[in-house]
Amino acid sequence: MSQTIIITGGAGFIGSHVVRRFVTHYPNYRIINLDALTYAGNLENLHDIEDRSNYIFEKANILNAEAIDKLFASYHPDGIIHLAAESHVDRSILSPLDFVYTNVIGTVNLLNAAKKLWNGQHSNKRFYHISTDEVYGALGESGFFTEQTRYDPHSPYSASKAASDHFVRAYGDTYQMPVIISNCSNNYGPNHFPEKLIPLFINNIIEKKPLPVYGDGLYTRDWLFVKDHAAAIDLVFHKGKDHETYNIGGFNEWKNIDLVKLLCKLADEKLNRPKGESEKLITYVKDRPGHDRRYAIDASKISKELGWKPSVTFEEGLSQTIDWYLQNTEWLRHVTSGEYQQYYKKQYQS
Ligand code: NAD
Ligand code: TYD
Repeated sequence: MSQTIIITGGAGFIGSHVVRRFVTHYPNYRIINLDALTYAGNLENLHDIEDRSNYIFEKANILNAEAIDKLFASYHPDGIIHLAAESHVDRSILSPLDFVYTNVIGTVNLLNAAKKLWNGQHSNKRFYHISTDEVYGALGESGFFTEQTRYDPHSPYSASKAASDHFVRAYGDTYQMPVIISNCSNNYGPNHFPEKLIPLFINNIIEKKPLPVYGDGLYTRDWLFVKDHAAAIDLVFHKGKDHETYNIGGFNEWKNIDLVKLLCKLADEKLNRPKGESEKLITYVKDRPGHDRRYAIDASKISKELGWKPSVTFEEGLSQTIDWYLQNTEWLRHVTSGEYQQYYKKQYQS
């Protein structure tokens, strides 16, 4: 094996696409998927690659510093790609401390474990922290987030991610650790947990349940297909420069209500429902507190310096995503039972 990489959060939405990409593209790498399997972690996401000889799963919580130290000492990773996190804004509003623990303290535990293991010997080592554009706050009608935009988080989720980014940079500056960060816009695609806008609405369209649009529906997000994010992570991990930050985005802004209407149209076609049928499910509900009006990423640095660009159009990506959910009803059934039902009730029926 030419190198060992620990990917945290590999059983989650984006992490599972990153693990699959690394396991299949780099058969000579040993890939360790370190995940606590919270409500958002699901090994079914990786059943197609679980028997590969270069893949190992380790169930561990990044809050358990002792367990993390032991795993690092036993595997001697050359690289860390850190995706494990609490990732849903609405949940962060219901229980902010969970986000402080996992996103901030969990990240510092990983930094400490890598610092201890590498002990100042940083040649061919890399600690890559995956972050979000939400750390930059909200934009008005115009403008873009660049790597120089000042941090201005508004939700407990984005505040916890901002804090974790600061710790990663601080370890880079103070201990000269080989750190690198990317901040990405909203992802969508297969295996997305149906609490986020796109998978929740696909699930509700299938079940003919109301589509709860927050506020006036004119909030804007910049959407990127998850496999394009995984390709960007691959590129940054291999070609990015230590201590740099890379913004990743889809050059693809949509107002929520326009996106929801497109989703309804595509789903009606695939489900052989009359034109306009699913749009009737749209229901405006009370707004999310502290709701950021608009996100838009300027991804020109990663594009110019590393040659990255998204590979699919939004319509293609969305179409593939709907197909995936229609073909994976068992997956949906598994993840929408149990804890999900309680969360849904609390969030949408109060
Ligand atoms: P997700 O919620 O789908 O998955 C998170 C994974 O982390 C799960 O497998 C979960 O089991 C694991 N995890 C959570 N707490 C853990 C702990 N204490 N110890 C070990 N594992 C734990 O999240 P996602 O959407 O795949 O996001 C992955 C990363 O990418 C996050 O850091 C997120 O902030 C970032 N990000 C997400 C988006 C997006 O649109 N989803 C956009 C930009 C950045
Ligand atoms: P979400 O998928 O939660 O991502 P984020 O908040 O991290 O951007 O939400 C995307 C947008 O959709 C955001 O403006 C909030 C809105 N939204 C709704 O209108 N209704 C919903 O039920 C959800 C989950 C989100």
